[in-house]
Amino acid sequence: MPKSYHVAIVGATGAVGIELLRVMERRNFPVADLRLLASARSAGNKSEFRGEDFSVAALNHDSFAGIDLAFFSAGAGTARQFAPIAQRTGAVVIDNSSAFRMDADVPLIIPEINPEDIRRHLGMIANPNCTTAVALMALYPLHGAFGLRRVFASSYQAVSGSGARAIEELRRQVEASVDGGPALAHVYPHPIAFNVLPHVDSFLENGYTKEEMKMQNEGRKIMHLPDFRASATCVRVPVYRAHSVALSAEFERPVSVESARAVLANAPGLDLVDEPLSNRYPTPLAAAGKDNCQVGRLRIDCALENGLALWVTGDQLLKGAALNAVQIAELL
Ligand code: A2P
Repeated sequence: MPKSYHVAIVGATGAVGIELLRVMERRNFPVADLRLLASARSAGNKSEFRGEDFSVAALNHDSFAGIDLAFFSAGAGTARQFAPIAQRTGAVVIDNSSAFRMDADVPLIIPEINPEDIRRHLGMIANPNCTTAVALMALYPLHGAFGLRRVFASSYQAVSGSGARAIEELRRQVEASVDGGPALAHVYPHPIAFNVLPHVDSFLENGYTKEEMKMQNEGRKIMHLPDFRASATCVRVPVYRAHSVALSAEFERPVSVESARAVLANAPGLDLVDEPLSNRYPTPLAAAGKDNCQVGRLRIDCALENGLALWVTGDQLLKGAALNAVQIAELL
């Protein structure tokens, strides 16, 4: 690989794509050349990178000539269609969608957890689900100390996780309700403003949603923990940015709040914010725009053996998407 990379971003006009540009700027990622790609609707739009304007081009079969590194953040369908083309053209693909995450020959990476898995990549690396990534940032260090068995999780997921249209939908619905107008829903099946929806992603036969099963399936793969079990309820909330997850985790060995705090205070990519008596605990507003996830509300879980209850919040456009993707590229 050259020292400076020819980079393509597929989905450059989306919520994550825009964030990728900012993260690469901030981290001084060595970009020799940048190709911004999106649907034909956005062709000709401009985006700024390091003070220079770059035009967005419509994605097609020839988009990847000369590209070393292709970030995909345009959904699973686009990834399935175009990521193999990018790969065949010689680019290494880092895909943010769920399309390839569980494929045996595609490493699924959180650099703080399983960086060594990247060695066996064959030109395609997957970025994990955003809620799973935020939860694992706290669960994995605890696993190292106490041996993780299973978790019960409830998520509180921001609308930006559903993309730019969902951000706009929440904004419009808030305005409509202030003006006394109807809160029309397009992206979600019900209004999201002043509401919570126990529905993220599509429903499976077992009654869970796809999003809910990702915590168990991706968690097993990332942590190399085949017996890990996770029962999640994923909930969309009227928050613009940053996901939160309430976790009840059961461990093999006894756990104390003090020892768990010590472990989490030293964990990479994580800030311990746990002074409940001073009203200090993680919130989406505080975590939005921050690279590190935040963890707090630690207490002994009174319903589990060797159980710990905790609350993790993280900017899912960053650690759950763009930041993690750029960290993967840095690992390469
Ligand atoms: P566009 O803006 O032209 O629709 P978000 O997650 O915020 O909804 O963003 C999705 C991103 O994926 C956008 O950049 C969007 O481009 C892009 N995208 C969606 N469908 C396609 C497609 N069929 N081909 C290329 N890019 C696509």
